[in-house]
Amino acid sequence: THITWDESAAEKGGFKHFMIKEIYETPEAVESALVGRFDEHGRPTLYELDEFNLERIKRILLVACGTSYHAGLVFKYFAEKYLDIDVLIDVASEFRYRPIRVDDETITIAISQSGETADTLESVRAVKKAGGKVIAIANVVGSTITRESDVTLFMNAGPEIGVAASKTYVNQLVVLYTLGMYMARKKGVWNEQLSSVSKELMNMPKILKYVLQNQEIERMAEYYKNYHHFMYIGRGINTATAMEGALKLKEISYINAVAYPAGELKHGPIALLDPTFPVFAIVPNDSLYEKMRSNIEESRARNARILSVATEGDEEIKRISHDVIYVPKVHEDLYPLVMAPVIQLFAYHIADKRGYDPDKPRNLAKSVTVE
Ligand code: G6P
Repeated sequence: THITWDESAAEKGGFKHFMIKEIYETPEAVESALVGRFDEHGRPTLYELDEFNLERIKRILLVACGTSYHAGLVFKYFAEKYLDIDVLIDVASEFRYRPIRVDDETITIAISQSGETADTLESVRAVKKAGGKVIAIANVVGSTITRESDVTLFMNAGPEIGVAASKTYVNQLVVLYTLGMYMARKKGVWNEQLSSVSKELMNMPKILKYVLQNQEIERMAEYYKNYHHFMYIGRGINTATAMEGALKLKEISYINAVAYPAGELKHGPIALLDPTFPVFAIVPNDSLYEKMRSNIEESRARNARILSVATEGDEEIKRISHDVIYVPKVHEDLYPLVMAPVIQLFAYHIADKRGYDPDKPRNLAKSVTVE
């Protein structure tokens, strides 16, 4: 007799694709990224960094590619807000060919899920050659970047098979927020605000579980799946969310998506907008809310359809948008975390509904080990 079983379905734990399985693994991945990294008062303790005297750092060079670069962009906004330092960020394929200036007050952070991305590795080598120190943020244990950097903070996300990064993006953010808060302690600028950021970070697994139950995201994907263009806009720390949202859509559903900091719309891209070019607006209840609100109104005046991602209870955004996806209210610095599953699921469902395999997007590889 024959026992028939579907090996590939079993691997995916009943999910249709690895990507969707991995998106739903985010809460437990975040749990693993947090464990052992905070003391009983909720303050970050990254013992592996104690010897690096980060209190003296005035300048951070940040280098990464793709989704990891967007995680770095979130860190730039967060770190510059609290740490009184400059964060200079670049994609690795540019960074490695530019002059590299390092001194005692500079540290480099290199972010790579796989730890094998060629341009990122070459950037690490260039910094080391110039005499600088490198903190790597990686997911794959034993990967090249972990061997060539001075120290590694692991993302602890578990294996990610889907080519387009999902849960590892969220874990990169968690590690970077933790690093930022650790540096704040070292520099003696820990404050009430950071204390509430840290408390909320601890709750993230629960909050993300709740976000992942939102059925509206798939309904929106169904509605928007046949558009050929999207304009993603956001401001401040969520400029990165807009960029990552557009990247996800391009990568797996092959739809042209452009991303702009919303204030740049008027300097050109607004000319693109018409009823065939919807706007995906990241508009949480934060200090730039009013500015985003006027950008939505400007876009609407060009007859673009507006899909906003807003904070629960925001009736005003519902009134001025055609569609709204709500996320729970969190500390304003942490919106990139709750927005992440929304942009990922939106892209995933559009790809799936258009009949593409999101796990193996055309022309892309999980880790790009060539230049
Ligand atoms: C590839 C993947 C992207 C990823 C980028 C950086 O292009 O398709 O999803 O963000 O590499 O990968 P890394 O492993 O360095 O984070």
